[in-house]
Amino acid sequence: MAMLQGRRILLGVTGGIAAYKSADLVRRLKDAGADVRVVMTRGAEEFVRPLTFQAVSGQPVHNSLLDPQAEAAMGHIELARWADAVLIAPATADALARLAHGLADDLLTTICLATEAPLAVAPAMNRIMWAHPATRANVDQLRARGVHIFGPGAGDQACGEVGAGRMLEPLELVDATAGLFGSSLLRGVSVLITAGPTREPIDPVRYITNRSSGKMGFAVARAAVAAGARVTLVAGPCNLPTPAGVERVDVETAEQMLEAVMARVDAAQIFVASAAVADYRLAQVAASKIKKSQDAMQLELVRNPDILGTVAGLQVGPFTVGFAAETDDMHAYAEDKRQRKGLDMIAANWVGRPGTGFDADDNSLEVLWEGGGASLGPAPKLQVAEELVRLVAERYSDTVQA
Ligand code: CTP
Repeated sequence: MAMLQGRRILLGVTGGIAAYKSADLVRRLKDAGADVRVVMTRGAEEFVRPLTFQAVSGQPVHNSLLDPQAEAAMGHIELARWADAVLIAPATADALARLAHGLADDLLTTICLATEAPLAVAPAMNRIMWAHPATRANVDQLRARGVHIFGPGAGDQACGEVGAGRMLEPLELVDATAGLFGSSLLRGVSVLITAGPTREPIDPVRYITNRSSGKMGFAVARAAVAAGARVTLVAGPCNLPTPAGVERVDVETAEQMLEAVMARVDAAQIFVASAAVADYRLAQVAASKIKKSQDAMQLELVRNPDILGTVAGLQVGPFTVGFAAETDDMHAYAEDKRQRKGLDMIAANWVGRPGTGFDADDNSLEVLWEGGGASLGPAPKLQVAEELVRLVAERYSDTVQA
């Protein structure tokens, strides 16, 4: 995550049970190259000892506004100036209320008033507290003031209830924090992305699919958010968390994917088709489970709609990027596909080679456009995705200016 390399993150920890996850968050931020200092409230210390945060951050923990010794070492104004970003995780309902009202009665709230760095909060609380009109109003006020609200997620809560109010996981918070430093290459641009496989039913219990994991498309979505884009990800069945800041639409079949894409394509300036769409579906899906009565059986398949081709064929359409998976003669096949489908850009990769392509964590791409091309990777998919997004942004801005 290049965006966090050398960034100074001041992590505020307030008194919620999710504070135990914040120690892992410190570690993850440091893994991403950030320099982390921790400020704890008195409530936070009821849940986790300062020593824990001192050990994981490798720095003294700050917890008192009125401690002359601490103020002499690195006072609240210095901390406020030091930070490239302030992240409060977990942010309790009380912390949100105090921030909304601009209180400055402890070290953390004082720093929040004294800093010019971006401020982000990761709320964590019981779902009823999160839904309470007082909390809603505080969050609206903070958002209107430019505070970034990360989450909360939904799911099982420490109090035994299920619903919205759970702090985002440390890795999601690292992504979202990186987004604070993203480039502005695609600021204000809407990007629509397809990812993953599609699943074509045979009967109520069986289906045809392929080995696509969705990793590349999800990485492109993350990279596009980091570049400032508004991103909608139409995903076939894949077992991946939704990248922070991405609107996700889950679909199963190619026909559903086409419908989801066509409902959103008018609002998109860039379309990236990374999904491995099944080329065929069953001519007739059986209404009940097929019994094994014969020694052999035949399934009749019919062609699925070409989603990328449909978008590329629009009279007024977005900047269109396709993917091509090839086993031979990659450059020639990919360029032929680009021209045949009328694409602005195509990203081709080898499949069937160890270490890249489907389900792998690394990838390499040959990217081709009218009159040019570039080779990306081999590198982790997120890095390749960041480079691809940079190329897309450059070519897209050329077409907008032309
Ligand atoms: N694609 C699509 N809808 C389909 C099939 C493919 O949007 N029904 C998109 C994929 O997301 C990818 C590109 O088209 O961006 C791949 O093109 P395709 O012609 O399907 O490639 P291959 O399957 O590699 O084709 P071929 O059989 O011609 O090698």
